Amino acid sequence: MSTALIILAAGKGTRMNSDIPKVLHPIAQVPMLVHAMRTGAALAPEHTVVVAGHGADAVRAATQDEDETATVVLQEEQLGTAHAVDQARQALEGFPGDAVVLYADTPFLQPGTLERMVEARAKYDLVILGFHAADPARYGRLVMQGDSLEKIVEFKDANDTERAISFCNSGLLACKADTLFSLIAEVGNANAAGEYYLTDVVEIARKRGLKVTAVSCDESETLGVNSRADLAAADAVFQTRARAELLDLGVTLMAPETVYLAADTVIGRDTVIEPNVVFGPGVTVESGATIRAFSHLEGCHVSQGSVVGPYARLRPGTELAENTRIGNFVEIKNAEIGEGAKVNHLSYIGDASVGAETNIGAGTITCNYDGVMKHRTTIGANVFIGSNTMLVAPVTLGDGAMTATGTVVTQDVEPDALAIARAVQENKPGYARKLFQMLRAKKARKQKEA
Ligand code: UD1
Ligand code: MG
Repeated sequence: MSTALIILAAGKGTRMNSDIPKVLHPIAQVPMLVHAMRTGAALAPEHTVVVAGHGADAVRAATQDEDETATVVLQEEQLGTAHAVDQARQALEGFPGDAVVLYADTPFLQPGTLERMVEARAKYDLVILGFHAADPARYGRLVMQGDSLEKIVEFKDANDTERAISFCNSGLLACKADTLFSLIAEVGNANAAGEYYLTDVVEIARKRGLKVTAVSCDESETLGVNSRADLAAADAVFQTRARAELLDLGVTLMAPETVYLAADTVIGRDTVIEPNVVFGPGVTVESGATIRAFSHLEGCHVSQGSVVGPYARLRPGTELAENTRIGNFVEIKNAEIGEGAKVNHLSYIGDASVGAETNIGAGTITCNYDGVMKHRTTIGANVFIGSNTMLVAPVTLGDGAMTATGTVVTQDVEPDALAIARAVQENKPGYARKLFQMLRAKKARKQKEA
């Protein structure tokens, strides 16, 4: 059976107190909406329809960034969850498969839960995802009779007996798409909130004699994010889970609770991560590497046996070949560092390529930006760059070349050549002593005057 995802993402999230729509706030550096899309991807959906409202342009951009085939529809006024789903009607016109409705603000949903919902669809016309709530608070209550779901009552509309039920509505459901839209067409807004409740489709389906059930999942999967505190807590849960997975995979985390991971961080076996390392999006570290303390990595690839840090910063487009050494206070951006090459101290290498076994001396800088445009620096293999060399891009240094310490390189250097560009030193005998005497006398005069 083919599936279409309908992801509700129109809400404002007032309690986030933010100009950014709630569903774009990140957990582990990935927007909540994208977490929902990735979980939904487990069903290999034929269509994904995201219902946007608040901050629709930004939501559209984030959606299409993740999946350019996804459709974004606009819910101009947020008149309720049924009204939200109804916005997907046109996009799924004539679609013969199932529709699965997800919320963009429930990032912990597990793919397996969606699969169980789809399986239950084989026997039931409408499947709702429920959970047993430790504190049912304001959730909608699921009124069951055996395996059959009779109706969902919103807390605001529930009587005392119904409020005593702890089996609650997560909001997610699965139903044949055309059936779902025909049920929604009958939903009204005569309730305490004056909203079109998606939950009303249950009673309407029952009246039509359709079979309705609820599948249960762990409450932790349905946790929604409504405030910054929820967001921080959700991130913490994600981090704990991701660290445990890495440890299981054979990665050493010296102080796991101090390592911050992104949702897509990939780290190979026998790699050692020292304390206080931050992974931004898009990082792959191969096996047998070491990321030393206080390093910050994003959008980069670190090959086997490389050692990075302490205090290193790898920015997007960094590609480290095997056995490289990137040392303290070194920043690398959009640059390939060849096998066995070393950039050990206090350097900036940006928009560059560095050949195998090349050594970049302390304090070297690729001057890649002229204030308007960026330019590339190309350094061959087995090159020795002397300390404090300024490489004014665009510039190319051939294999086996060398630069003298303090050189400002403005012209290409041919292979095996030495580039030297600095003032010639002159020593003036006895001058230092004279100068010291003069300065000390001056200081003494000033102290007397004061
Ligand atoms: C909903 C359910 C409730 C369930 C709870 C679980 C209904 C009527 N109620 O209540 O039974 O226990 O979720 O968290 O469905 N949204 C739109 N457009 C709208 C309204 C909402 O896109 O017009 C989106 C929101 O952005 C959010 C989701 O739908 O992602 C749920 O909306 P929300 O207002 O949080 O519903 P609840 O009152 O929590
Ligand atoms: Mg809610």
